[in-house]
Amino acid sequence: MENKKTVRIALTKGRIEESAIDIFQAAGIDCSQLLNKGRKLIFRNEDCNIEFVLVKAADVLTYIEHGVVDIGIVGKDTLMEQNKKFYEVLDLRFGCCKFSVAGPKNSNFYQGYNKKKIATKYPNVARDYFRKTGQDVEIIKIEGSVELAPILGLVDAIVDIVETGSTLKENGLTVYEDICSISARMIVNVASIKMKKDEIEEIIEKVQREVKRREEITED
Ligand code: PRP
Repeated sequence: MENKKTVRIALTKGRIEESAIDIFQAAGIDCSQLLNKGRKLIFRNEDCNIEFVLVKAADVLTYIEHGVVDIGIVGKDTLMEQNKKFYEVLDLRFGCCKFSVAGPKNSNFYQGYNKKKIATKYPNVARDYFRKTGQDVEIIKIEGSVELAPILGLVDAIVDIVETGSTLKENGLTVYEDICSISARMIVNVASIKMKKDEIEEIIEKVQREVKRREEITED
């Protein structure tokens, strides 16, 4: 009898959770238990030897790096911010948004010689970007609702995720420049890809086929 090893998959709670469940379902990997999950955090699918866990974005990488989770579904924003070890195997093409520099409308962000202050939940991303563009800035870490920081006069601008743009708009802010595009990614623990090669490759292939199928539909 075939002796399949259990693969543990971490899904990021929140924004991309629904799309992640949807793509696994469409790829033929049943995770319907997660649709009526209540407060439960771990779900086992005995038929295909897969265990799903629901965790916060940053924790996906911690579990992956320590090898207690084999596969993670997480946003590129989190991957860029955290310097962790993993293989990025698939761009899932959902959860699409961008990193932008934004601030109050009608402000002269690029004028003057004073060192500009930047608020962000992503200090590493912001630091890297301004280093590359040769702008000397002071970064201030904020945990959420970063849009408030320039409104209250704490900073000149923010580096944040922009999806629909409505949070910026409703708070009188505008994009100054875009940094890069972001989407959800599938990542794999570096040891798991060898130890559970067949099981993990099967999952990657199934999901990749579904990503391609969706792409073909949108191209038509
Ligand atoms: C993110 C981001 C913006 C908002 C952008 O915040 O930090 O605030 O979404 O989305 P929009 O362009 O569609 O308006 P999130 O909802 O994750 O909450 P947080 O700021 O409390 O982390």
